[in-house]
Amino acid sequence: MPEMTAISLTVNGQARTLTATPDMPLLWALRQELGLAGPKFGCGAGLCGACTVQIDGQPARACQMPVGAVGTARITTIEGLQRDPLFERLRAAWLEIDVMQCGYCQAGQLLSAHALLKATPQPDAAQIDGAMEGNICRCATYPRIRAAIAKVAKEAGHGR
Ligand code: FES
Ligand code: FES
Repeated sequence: MPEMTAISLTVNGQARTLTATPDMPLLWALRQELGLAGPKFGCGAGLCGACTVQIDGQPARACQMPVGAVGTARITTIEGLQRDPLFERLRAAWLEIDVMQCGYCQAGQLLSAHALLKATPQPDAAQIDGAMEGNICRCATYPRIRAAIAKVAKEAGHGR
């Protein structure tokens, strides 16, 4: 059985240390050890995207990543995007289009959308579908999510 050890992480730009076994899922470490409630537990099997965080800017399923494997990679949760200009635009579009229903999946959706638009400011519909296909929404808010992403992309095209 793996032993508890001190593990250092970089989370939302801050150095954090916790005591855990290296095989603890990153999702557990973030939620239970570091008190970050943004990433959610859904399937625990890499299938739903509720636990999505960014690791070095790429969307990743925190339920599938052992905390001991993160190393020096930068972890970003929704809490860490609060002053990010692109996230501000996404949040505004989300609110304007009234995307959310129960809200459970939405932090993960926003992390994936943010990573997409950071890399590809004006994605086409296929690129949006491809980037978002791993994020499941039981409330079926998919059309509104895609409309909100397209809105931010269109605004980027107008220099906003
Ligand atoms: S909880 Fe991680 S993908 Fe579903
Ligand atoms: S808004 Fe309810 S699961 Fe997506």
